[in-house]
Amino acid sequence: MTQTKEVAHLVLPTWAGEFDLRVFEGATGEVYLLFAYGELGDGQDLLVRLHSACLTGDAFGSLRCDCGPQLRQAMRRIVAEGRGVLLYAAGHEGRGVGLVSKLQAYMLQDEGHDTVEANRRLGLPVDGRDYREAVEVLRAAGVRSSRLLTNNPAKASALDREGLLLERLSLSTAPHLRNLRYVQTKQRRLGHRAPGGQPVDEDGLLAGDGQAVDASALLGEVGARPDRPYVVLKYAQTLDGRIATGGGDSKWISGPEERRVSHALRAASDAVLIGAGTVLADDPLLTVRMVPGASPIRVVLDSTLRVPPDAQVLGPEAVTVVLTSERSDPGRRAALRRRGVKVDVVGEGPEGVDLAAGLARLRSLGIRCVLVEGGSRVITSALRGRLADRLVVAVAPLLLGRGTDAVGDLGATMVRDGLRLRGQTVHQLGQDLVVAGDLDWARD
Ligand SMILES: NC(=O)c1ccc[n+]([C@@H]2O[C@H](COP(=O)([O-])OP(=O)(O)OC[C@H]3O[C@@H](n4cnc5c(N)ncnc54)[C@H](OP(=O)(O)O)[C@@H]3O)[C@@H](O)[C@H]2O)c1
Repeated sequence: MTQTKEVAHLVLPTWAGEFDLRVFEGATGEVYLLFAYGELGDGQDLLVRLHSACLTGDAFGSLRCDCGPQLRQAMRRIVAEGRGVLLYAAGHEGRGVGLVSKLQAYMLQDEGHDTVEANRRLGLPVDGRDYREAVEVLRAAGVRSSRLLTNNPAKASALDREGLLLERLSLSTAPHLRNLRYVQTKQRRLGHRAPGGQPVDEDGLLAGDGQAVDASALLGEVGARPDRPYVVLKYAQTLDGRIATGGGDSKWISGPEERRVSHALRAASDAVLIGAGTVLADDPLLTVRMVPGASPIRVVLDSTLRVPPDAQVLGPEAVTVVLTSERSDPGRRAALRRRGVKVDVVGEGPEGVDLAAGLARLRSLGIRCVLVEGGSRVITSALRGRLADRLVVAVAPLLLGRGTDAVGDLGATMVRDGLRLRGQTVHQLGQDLVVAGDLDWARD
């Protein structure tokens, strides 16, 4: 029998609400933070998350793992239920090997080893966590039976052995291209339950309910070049090829299932890019809301900084980069920077900002994959400049007649001049069809 002792008890207000926090120390000094929400009462049937600390993911939003979104999703679900427990095991960093070893293992992963092999090469256990103290703390806090939020079979068995497990609930988050391999390894080699949620495949997707979606297959083979990120053009159009009405309205052309997949695509990408026209017409937030997952960096092309300062895309919910030209007012640039918006001046092109230069700037910022979400002018410039690798187009069973064309003039006079997709797949998402494929520049 191990011995944990309570060393602090206080109220901690957090972004998700006020928690009753009890701090325990294990026999070897490991720290356990027990966050209780609401009345635990008889301790039966409690929603419980046993979270292994991950400084990089939890605090810094590292995209190498899915820890941060999992932690925040668990807190949301406990708060929504009105009652539950989050046990944060500070000593379980890096599956128990500690912060420094975890970062050294990351270095080996960068050389091509998966998370399991990397630990082995460092002479470390693949999973060095021991859950006995955690279970003891849960008992001390009055937990008698739990619905455990986890994809990890080892955590579920640890509670089950002690008679504390009532049910195991998945805690999936939409994968990011940076953590996709890690998430797949967890599923394949460590037996985790669908950590990335339901994959989008040819059979489509069930109706959305805020659960994770793995849309990574729609992104194709992400391969950034030295001079620009991998660029995916994504839009929703009507059967007659419109992305908005003549008056500019585009909400919503596609249905909720397709929009949920769009959010999963955002969650998988480093950045999402739109032009000033879409900001003015739609005032989008461009964050990930319909699936659990990290919001990408938002990029706006705005050569004269005509986007209003109160535009939602400039708000604090995620990082924003505005690419502008020398024509914009330096005073406005400075005002945006003071608000925490990154403003970069790049060269001018025929359509506003020089898109190739803008994409090169994004690449220099470490961005590897950009999801271009429109509107029509930006989509057209990317195609005209051959600055896109892939197209993901939702087609809704709707006709609008006159309206905004998805794609402007590409100079095709004969059908054979048209731009074709290679290796395309078709998916039915609710009422909509989604066609995804690589742009075949080689045939051009
Ligand atoms: N259905 C969908 O999936 C979807 C998605 C997005 C938008 N929309 C709809 O599309 C409409 C907006 O289309 P839009 O064409 O006006 O908007 P847009 O493509 O988002 O923005 C175009 C503006 O971006 C700026 N820009 C800067 N550099 C550019 C470049 N290299 N290439 C192109 N534009 C550049 C230009 O303004 P400056 O010259 O001032 O810099 C340009 O007028 C709205 O009605 C919106 O609802 C639909």
